[in-house]
Amino acid sequence: MQEIIRQLEEKRAAARRGGGEARVETQHGKGKLSARERIDLLLDEGSFEEWDMFVEHRCTDFGMADQRIPGDGVVTGYGTINGRLVFVFSQDFTVFGGSLSEAHAEKICKIMDQAIKVGAPVIGLNDSGGARIQEGVASLGGYAEVFQRNVLASGVIPQISMVMGPCAGGAVYSPAMTDFIFMIRDSSYMFVTGPDVVKTVTHEQVTAEELGGGITHSTKSGVADFAFVNDIEGLLSLRLFFDFLPANNHEAPPVWPTDDSPNRIEKSLDTLIPDDPNKPYDIKELIYKTADENNFFEIQPDFAKNIVIGFIRMEGSTVGVVANQPMVLAGCLDISSSIKAGRFVRFCDAFNIPILTFVDVPGFMPGTAQEYGGIIKHGAKLLFAYAEATVPKVTVITRKAYGGAYDVMSSKHLRGDVNFAWPSAEIAVMGPKGAVEIIFRKDIGDKKNITKRTEEYRQKFANPFIAGHRGFIDDVIMPRDTRTRVCHSLSMLRQKKITNPWRKHANIPL
Ligand code: HXC
Repeated sequence: MQEIIRQLEEKRAAARRGGGEARVETQHGKGKLSARERIDLLLDEGSFEEWDMFVEHRCTDFGMADQRIPGDGVVTGYGTINGRLVFVFSQDFTVFGGSLSEAHAEKICKIMDQAIKVGAPVIGLNDSGGARIQEGVASLGGYAEVFQRNVLASGVIPQISMVMGPCAGGAVYSPAMTDFIFMIRDSSYMFVTGPDVVKTVTHEQVTAEELGGGITHSTKSGVADFAFVNDIEGLLSLRLFFDFLPANNHEAPPVWPTDDSPNRIEKSLDTLIPDDPNKPYDIKELIYKTADENNFFEIQPDFAKNIVIGFIRMEGSTVGVVANQPMVLAGCLDISSSIKAGRFVRFCDAFNIPILTFVDVPGFMPGTAQEYGGIIKHGAKLLFAYAEATVPKVTVITRKAYGGAYDVMSSKHLRGDVNFAWPSAEIAVMGPKGAVEIIFRKDIGDKKNITKRTEEYRQKFANPFIAGHRGFIDDVIMPRDTRTRVCHSLSMLRQKKITNPWRKHANIPL
């Protein structure tokens, strides 16, 4: 017995040492924490229950029989974040470069299976050189086992990836199938093929950071939802982010205590909209002033900035916000913003999170780049997502709601539950000037005439009343009352239940 206990402690110590002090020092030298330090920072103190500390790889080729480190390059288990259960795996770059062996994959699969059974989210901290080269196809099989679980868990439990080191080749597809991808600037990268292959095939010369670093993916490709400055900022922010999410698709999002009254009036919002309809304003001011304690966790803040998405709380409960941003491209919908918001709407719908939509949209972005890029199909993603969503949907039109974009942005016709308009709302097929130029194309006359006709059109259509007459909006509200009216609406909608017709799955235009 004593001997077994001694061996047990020895194995535990070996697992904790990972690849050894020197490699941990190298990791620190790159500004990265070790796999265990990351878990310590992410989870509530003392809450981590580790599994499979004694698992070792089974490879005997290339001298691997003599190189076995308990745990085999990934630390797995469960713990809590602010008291709420979460499963975690953290790849250990100090052990065979965090590379994925068959045994390493089995450890990840085991916690994923358990997370699905008990209905708790999975967070993966990725830091890996990819498939364990010495194992060959066994490792590829391991990846596929993880992929299969990512897909089965999708829409059942939230899955979050924090890429904190290398993530290359086919390995990128596990994070890609999770709900959110966070990265760390300068120390993480994701790409399907690295700089050397790129150089050989396309003769482009790029660094790993340029090709697939945190900044690239959070600004250019939209693959990452956020790029944090370092491991510490990333992990602490991840704790805050986690607090917004429900545990699974059967549960409501958590409710956190708040002192912010639902009846708080925000007088300053009455002057948010400039007198000139073509002058921009920052929609984020409205989001911050509407949210509990002005707290807004923005997602993808640096990608497709013409639409803003993220989480707020209203009376303590999580709400997903989608808002056109007049400061960027006048708030037009284009390919990137449609994809960005469409995916977010689907996440909220899958996980019972009500959606609040702020609308100021002059339409879809014109141009050959958009048409050739497939704006028809990509724009349809957002339309599809809103139309399919059965969670409570509250919409506030602040200014422009023109054309097809009016329909798309959670309109009444797409089962919007409560649709408000501010007095400054203009709900029409298009802007007054464009409309006049088409209707009166033949007899438009001089400039004075255009101005007169435009004003006539504005008086008639560019207001909330025509939509109000038809019941397409439920009320015209004062901007200062937005928080109150949205809170009341969400409270009324708390027990909302509708279902879509039975089907195997819908066929969203991918
Ligand atoms: C086994 C690996 C490894 C791997 C790294 N190591 N990657 N061992 N399999 N895939 C080991 C190294 O031998 C080294 O061991 C230690 O990890 C640290 O690696 P270094 O190269 O010293 O670190 P660094 O300079 O930081 O470079 C990191 C790296 C590089 C860029 C990730 O190691 C690298 O290019 N690795 C190979 C990447 C790769 O080609 N992976 C397979 C991709 S294909 P010692 O003992 O010296 O510390 C793939 C397919 C997945 O993943 C398909 C899924 C469908």
